[in-house]
Amino acid sequence: MSITIFVTQPNGAEEELSAEEGQTLLECAQAAGLDGFVGECGGNCACGTCHCYVEQAPQGSLLEASNEELQMLDFVAAPREDNSRLACQIRITEEMQGMRITMPDRQF
Ligand code: FES
Repeated sequence: MSITIFVTQPNGAEEELSAEEGQTLLECAQAAGLDGFVGECGGNCACGTCHCYVEQAPQGSLLEASNEELQMLDFVAAPREDNSRLACQIRITEEMQGMRITMPDRQF
């Protein structure tokens, strides 16, 4: 079953991503060719170029960031906000249906 996630680009354009359960948000976004999900380290929580802002997630769907992710978020290029996350660390679940993400204006 695919899960629809709404992604807003820095220019305000909204894209609909059909994500697959069990994959990471980064994997789904890259497979769909969405802009902004660079993922230079290949999803290993080591580069910060998959930074995104989670605007709205259905309650209980999003796990807390790990310490590793929180530390990596110190190195993202765009401002870090309370809702900053790394797309490579978000594993898609059915409960994320309708989640809303905004992309930062830069990853470097
Ligand atoms: S892809 Fe490098 S931190 Fe997510």
